[in-house]
Amino acid sequence: MSPSDLIDRTVNHVRTVLSGDGTGHDWWHVYRVWRTAQRIGQAEKADLLIVELAALLHDIADWKLHDGDSTVGPQMAKQWLNSLDAHISEHVCQIIAGISFKGANVEQPILSLEGKVVQDADRLDAMGAIGIARAFAYGGAKGQAIYDPAAKPSEHRTPEAYLKGGTTINHFYEKLLLLKDRMNTATGRAIAEARHQFMEDFLRRFFEEWEGG
Ligand code: ADP
Ligand code: NI
Repeated sequence: MSPSDLIDRTVNHVRTVLSGDGTGHDWWHVYRVWRTAQRIGQAEKADLLIVELAALLHDIADWKLHDGDSTVGPQMAKQWLNSLDAHISEHVCQIIAGISFKGANVEQPILSLEGKVVQDADRLDAMGAIGIARAFAYGGAKGQAIYDPAAKPSEHRTPEAYLKGGTTINHFYEKLLLLKDRMNTATGRAIAEARHQFMEDFLRRFFEEWEGG
């Protein structure tokens, strides 16, 4: 199968599997990660077929939606890729298993260049205007308060602690504002810089307005 057929068929497969998810892991998240990963992958001279397949399949089954089981996603991706092209399946599945964020102080595995590119693209989609929109959409779906002056942000040392959640504003301090310094590639870092600044501006205005400003 040609690389572009492989991508097209994977796009259709992922669209079908993910349609209707209300937690921020919808097809359009995957679409944006795919586009950003293409851009970063090109600039970083990564293997674009691997980058695109991993970006498309990275949220096929999220560990948070499967009782904390982080093996379901790579398995589902493997099943899909094996039926198309077993040769590239292993690298792509390794990337998918390695990139998910599980709390500020939880150790992360070492990634290939292609894995770094996809992780940067995934993290960038949690930043900037889109990141803000996704955070409040997620918080609303989970019944979280937007903000509570009495609730202090905390660093999570285990995946379980990260999952418990707090207010959505705290999520900025627990994850979103940390992402800029965790970019893997120079291209990702440059994009992150502007998105980070936008979130800082948003928070400044948010706290001003909270006090009637
Ligand atoms: P990833 O796609 O990197 O695995 P997550 O699954 O952790 O991201 O989160 C999906 C989206 O929901 C992200 O935009 C993230 O910032 C947001 N999110 C996750 N946890 C919370 C939370 N407790 N409060 C608000 N937003 C959250
Ligand atoms: Ni994602």
